[in-house]
Amino acid sequence: MKTTITVNGTLRDVDADASKPLLWVLREDLGLTGTKFGCGVAQCGACTVMIDGVATRTCVTPIDAVAGQDITTIEGLAPTEDTLHALQQAWIKHQVPQCGYCQSGQLMSAAALLNDIPNPTDDDINAAMDGNICRCGMYDRIRAAIKTAAITKGQSNE
Ligand code: FES
Ligand code: FES
Repeated sequence: MKTTITVNGTLRDVDADASKPLLWVLREDLGLTGTKFGCGVAQCGACTVMIDGVATRTCVTPIDAVAGQDITTIEGLAPTEDTLHALQQAWIKHQVPQCGYCQSGQLMSAAALLNDIPNPTDDDINAAMDGNICRCGMYDRIRAAIKTAAITKGQSNE
């Protein structure tokens, strides 16, 4: 079955079963391998992208549920090829990634959080990032980097 989805601002035609999880459409059909497979049951956050600005677990989201919606993956997070997103800059500053496996999911959840709450408190961050597991335990650095990015984004909007 042919489905047209919008990924990182581009319309993409996909010939796949309507029930195929978006995670595997992104990775196998579109070659966007930045989105990772972890648990497959919406429990780890590794597969998170933004759909219409909302953090969404792609391992349990069938492709026919996202036609017409705006999908943003880690490959589309940076505003231009030459400019990193404020979160990516902060991630580097705070040296958040260790093994790196969870990081695209962490960044997409954090991006959705900042879209929703530009200046999140610790409680806001903990609530939004609760389902994103990091086996390397980088939670303190993730929290610090989100706060740095919130300041950077706030300054760029002044
Ligand atoms: S792979 Fe989707 S939440 Fe774990
Ligand atoms: S950086 Fe290794 S799992 Fe998060």
